[in-house]
Amino acid sequence: MIFTVAIDGPAAAGKGTIARELAARFGLGHLDTGLLYRAVGAKGGDPVASARSLTEADLARPDLRSLEAGQAASRVAAIPEVRAALVDFQRAFARRPGGAVLDGRDIGTVICPEAEVKLYVTASPEVRARRRWLEVGGDPDRVLAEVRERDARDMARAEAPLRPAVDALLLDTTDMPVEVAVAAAVARVAAALGG
Ligand code: DC
Repeated sequence: MIFTVAIDGPAAAGKGTIARELAARFGLGHLDTGLLYRAVGAKGGDPVASARSLTEADLARPDLRSLEAGQAASRVAAIPEVRAALVDFQRAFARRPGGAVLDGRDIGTVICPEAEVKLYVTASPEVRARRRWLEVGGDPDRVLAEVRERDARDMARAEAPLRPAVDALLLDTTDMPVEVAVAAAVARVAAALGG
């Protein structure tokens, strides 16, 4: 079975939770594509060379979830050659036998426009910053500022900016419990698989 679920949206909107639930429920492979950009940013040196030589060990670094790694990822992600170096791997994963869920910023628009299911998961910056703060701690105002800065960069860049695919199901999790968002995503995937 070739079957792709593309999940896009800004940081801490709930993409990862939904992606993991869908992967477990339907037996699909899962790729958190943000991790690729985080690994490139964390590696340092020339980002294009890093993107071209990314290894499993780079993706297993323990520091990839930090705010700093998120900012570094967002910066290197604006470089067209970095994005180009990561396309083939993501496309192959998306069409792997058995099906796949990919979450990121440009999955439904650029990496896999033919995805059978597209979701755009979002929430207000304040709610997303609070979720991120609960994970990483520190100064809440700084976390909110980082969320806004990353949103602005990811949405304004020329190459593959963050935006919903025209045919994406929009899930705004600002006031929505995560179980409700997951249930809506599960229903959409079940319908696509059934049809
Ligand atoms: O999803 P995340 O917070 O781990 O992503 C980190 C950064 O990587 C994000 O700010 C922008 C970039 N990114 C991207 O440009 N395209 C993707 N498909 C995934 C992430």
